[in-house]
Amino acid sequence: MIRVLFVCLGNICRSPMAEFVFKDMVDKKGLTKEFYIDSAATDDYNEKMKAGIYPDTKDILKEMNIPFIEHISRQLKKDDYDKFDYILGMEERNVIDIKQIIGVDKENKVHRLLDFTEKPRDIIDPWYYGNFDSTYYDILYGCEKFLEYLKK
Ligand code: 4NP
Repeated sequence: MIRVLFVCLGNICRSPMAEFVFKDMVDKKGLTKEFYIDSAATDDYNEKMKAGIYPDTKDILKEMNIPFIEHISRQLKKDDYDKFDYILGMEERNVIDIKQIIGVDKENKVHRLLDFTEKPRDIIDPWYYGNFDSTYYDILYGCEKFLEYLKK
């Protein structure tokens, strides 16, 4: 089983979007049983607020026919490092914050999602910059390339 944790700042926009896009992708390929997939935040604010998936993220998932269930934000914990094989941030700031929580990335588990593509770069935060469509297409592209990487 391959255990994948998607991580962003708040765990209400990008990382739950990536969680459900990737779950749908592996499901459509008949690989559901091969994976354990979850998402988490670097920040504790939304966990304290018991915040669910942001409405604009739900809207784009619905528009793209991606099934999802409610996900309440939870902050990344140090012991997640042992529980997951891949810890995938959305942007460089997430990677820095992830390493603050988990310590030294001894097993090279921490990457940005788009590091698996031909054009490694950040997925900008739609919470601040507001383009959930481009966030979705970045996440879709990253998940496709990550799955291709795993198959190799
Ligand atoms: P996310 O976006 O990291 O993609 O979930 C954010 C959502 C909420 C906040 C920041 C980023 N916030 O500060 O509450």
